[in-house]
Amino acid sequence: MNREDFPILKNELIYFDNGATTLKPQQVIDAVTDYYTNYTANAHRGDYDNSLKVDMMYEETRTKVKNFIHANSEKEIIFTSGATDSLNRIVFGYMKYNLQPGDEVLITKAEHASNVLPWLELEKEKGIVVKYIPLENHLVTLENVKRSITEHTKVISLAQVTNVLGDVRPIFEIGEFCRENNILLVVDGAQSVPHMEVDVIKLNIDFLAFSAHKMLGPTGVGVLYGKEELLEKMHPTSFGGGMNSTFTSDKIVEYKSLPTRLEAGTPNIAGVIGLGAAIDYLTNIGMDRIQEHEKHLKQYFLEKAKDMNQLVIYNKDLDNGLIAFNIDGVFSQDTAVYLNHYHICVRAGNHCAKILKEDLLVKNTCRISFYLYNTEEEIDQLIEVLKNSKDIFQIVL
Ligand SMILES: Cc1ncc(COP(=O)(O)O)c(C=O)c1O
Repeated sequence: MNREDFPILKNELIYFDNGATTLKPQQVIDAVTDYYTNYTANAHRGDYDNSLKVDMMYEETRTKVKNFIHANSEKEIIFTSGATDSLNRIVFGYMKYNLQPGDEVLITKAEHASNVLPWLELEKEKGIVVKYIPLENHLVTLENVKRSITEHTKVISLAQVTNVLGDVRPIFEIGEFCRENNILLVVDGAQSVPHMEVDVIKLNIDFLAFSAHKMLGPTGVGVLYGKEELLEKMHPTSFGGGMNSTFTSDKIVEYKSLPTRLEAGTPNIAGVIGLGAAIDYLTNIGMDRIQEHEKHLKQYFLEKAKDMNQLVIYNKDLDNGLIAFNIDGVFSQDTAVYLNHYHICVRAGNHCAKILKEDLLVKNTCRISFYLYNTEEEIDQLIEVLKNSKDIFQIVL
């Protein structure tokens, strides 16, 4: 799919680490370069042509994001530095002021660090209680969500797609359940928004966090979506220029309305404009096609690998574009170093989901995560290299 748009692929490179970050198409690179080359100016500040163009491009991206996730209003889209920043703002800008000691927040042991550590900090700071929804064969089920609820449950915070196994959580069902039970649903969309259609209204998502760099966009930009009535109650976690309408020596301070109130300081303008180009690119292909392509590649890999007994695959049955595996008896990092010898990039380790290993009973895995530019031919090459993995220790050591 459109490989020629990705200049980095002209090099000898098979890139299967898309869960970590994705490659950038020329269209995104051009959008970023165009800003720096032709119309650099700050946002929301000036009255001259370039500055007005920046405002237009910046706000146009907000509209693109709004449409991409089917939000109701631009006021619900806040630009942040990434999914981690978005999740931290949800916890320290909203939850800190709206939860009470003893209120319960449900997460799972398969969450990324960014959806665990802010909650654990708030637990220490405020006395909320963080609990884990038990996993069923490593997966979240609505039944287990229901079983975990108590009268104190106020929030459920889950990745829509996990970054270790790539399982897709039943967010629609959980969203309905949350609505019926007056529970806030926070969704970490870092691994879902880049790969599938996400509709925040249909899914009844209260807050959503994701990163531009995992969806063809630049690093250092992310999105925080929140329902307008919730963002109205969110406290800024940064204060300064851009977000205030006035302040006086008598210390009378007034902040602007949404979304600007939550975007203090000069934003990552080039990054936001690049995200706009990335959304255009993804929309032109279609999220359903992208998801189908990734699923197809996984099935292709599984078919090719079916007689390779040395491969231990942990998520065969999951219909997604991610493969968690190890070569039997080989440390995952050694496998990644071995594959790197053939210019094949995979991720090895615990993928920032450090408590999942208690459930998976395996400390580290190798992760292949596909994206729209990956091909069957690349998988053929990977399979060849894995078949010859008896050389692994000569190459790695
Ligand atoms: C599920 C999940 N959540 C959150 C993050 C954090 O994203 P970022 O590092 O872009 O803030 C990641 C990154 O790998 C992730 O996979």
